[in-house]
Amino acid sequence: MTTFASKAEVFENPLEEPIRNLKRAEPCILVIFGATGDLTARKLVPALYNMAREGQLPAHFACVGFARRDKNHDIFRNEMFEAVNQFSRVKPVDPEIWKEFSQCLFYHKSNFNEDEGYDSLHKFLKTLDQQFNTKGNRVYYLSTQPTFFSMISDKLSQHNLVYNQDEAEKWSRVIIEKPFGRDLESSIQLQNEVERCLDESQIYRIDHYLGKETVQNLMAFRFSNAIFEDLWNNHHIDHVQMTVAEDIGIGTRGKLWEESGSLRDIVQNHMMQVLSLAAMEPPISFDSTAIHDEKVKVLESIRAFPMDEFDEYVIRGQYAPGYVDGELVKGYREEDNVSPTSNVETFVALKLHIDNWRWAGVPFYLRTGKHLPKKVTDISVVFKQAPGFLFNKEESRLQQNILSIRIQPDEGISLKMNCKVPGLPSPLQPVKMDFRYGQYFGLEPPEAYERLITDCMAGDRTLFARWDEVLASWKLLDPVLTKWAEAPPKDFPNYPAGSWGAERADKIIENDGREWCLL
Ligand code: BG6
Repeated sequence: MTTFASKAEVFENPLEEPIRNLKRAEPCILVIFGATGDLTARKLVPALYNMAREGQLPAHFACVGFARRDKNHDIFRNEMFEAVNQFSRVKPVDPEIWKEFSQCLFYHKSNFNEDEGYDSLHKFLKTLDQQFNTKGNRVYYLSTQPTFFSMISDKLSQHNLVYNQDEAEKWSRVIIEKPFGRDLESSIQLQNEVERCLDESQIYRIDHYLGKETVQNLMAFRFSNAIFEDLWNNHHIDHVQMTVAEDIGIGTRGKLWEESGSLRDIVQNHMMQVLSLAAMEPPISFDSTAIHDEKVKVLESIRAFPMDEFDEYVIRGQYAPGYVDGELVKGYREEDNVSPTSNVETFVALKLHIDNWRWAGVPFYLRTGKHLPKKVTDISVVFKQAPGFLFNKEESRLQQNILSIRIQPDEGISLKMNCKVPGLPSPLQPVKMDFRYGQYFGLEPPEAYERLITDCMAGDRTLFARWDEVLASWKLLDPVLTKWAEAPPKDFPNYPAGSWGAERADKIIENDGREWCLL
């Protein structure tokens, strides 16, 4: 295994400038709407606990769970203790840290549409401000069903729980979970509704892929290594592949999935966000606006799908029963709360073109799906073939160089290149130069939610989606939803669980004389 630099070199001479000027989280109260939901238990409170453990929580901090179920502070704390024990990235839970942390956890019972609930919240937060010295600063985390997003924003505004941006003394920010709308029209409507109550600068549209360490490293990797950035264009790159594969199925989310599908769940947000970081021009600085400006240019440059050749650009799939990890699993249509004739997709493959100077002529192939053979998120940048006249003989077939950015698991970067096999005669063989974060730094990266909550508390919107990005992404993908609705699939289910998805996904890349990289 080869590494790019020695560990000693990196640690002795760390770069002085961090990728962004990390700001510290400021004193605040975090109010989680939908506090009895899955996300709070699996991700949010474990993230807060780990932030407390690592000294990342502001010194003056409290968290209030807001939900409809009847419970008191102690019941909520006990439930969260169980959740953290089960889902924290670091276990077991340290009793001392938990004891201190849990004293900052509170529960507030109310329906989301109940005015008295917001009035009493207002009073309660004021007493907590006194107790914890949180200075009136607020983060509201909307971890509810999307149908409540605009109602809650509205109630927060009506009850003076969000402040006018000009109030310099204190601030209020609202984190909105995905999905931000379920198509172009509903996303615009939602934006109009939240905009009436909140300033864009107060809205933090969360996409947890942006909080993943390797996704953040995309910028560091591209813009701090001249050797790669100089090759990052259509002179040298043949095509780019992006895969977000999951071995799990839709699990207990049947009802939800019937309303969404892979295009809405993964492509519209996570894949478009990562793609924009991978393909954008260098920003003029690491300032949030500068980065968002470049990302949105990429999204706006993606060519609309040609409707007359739609099947060569867009493929959908749905899993049939099959074997994943040696275990027989149900088909999508047999999952709980799923219609036995459902046409909702669990797999999507796309071919995209970014019509700008850098990427003209370089196709981007994207695929994502549930119940694929393994969990892997990867960007593979496939370079052009070297001139083959010296080597392209039968005994030594030349392979293209592939730079593979492994977002998860085994986060890392590898470069495939051709090497002479020792001895005579000497054919070529592709070998890999491999860098793995875990092995190299020996540190476990923080969970995406830890990073993103910290950023919000520090007022840094860089790793949150800006409205024009969301809009551009919906503009591209909304016609796909329309086309699909007009022409229901004839071949569903069309891939066995445990395979790499619909066969026709292979065709969209093979028709161009290419193939999916082995992952
Ligand atoms: C969520 C999707 O946003 O991301 C899920 O709703 C998906 O369907 C999940 O399983 C994948 O996230 P990760 O971090 O496990 O890759």
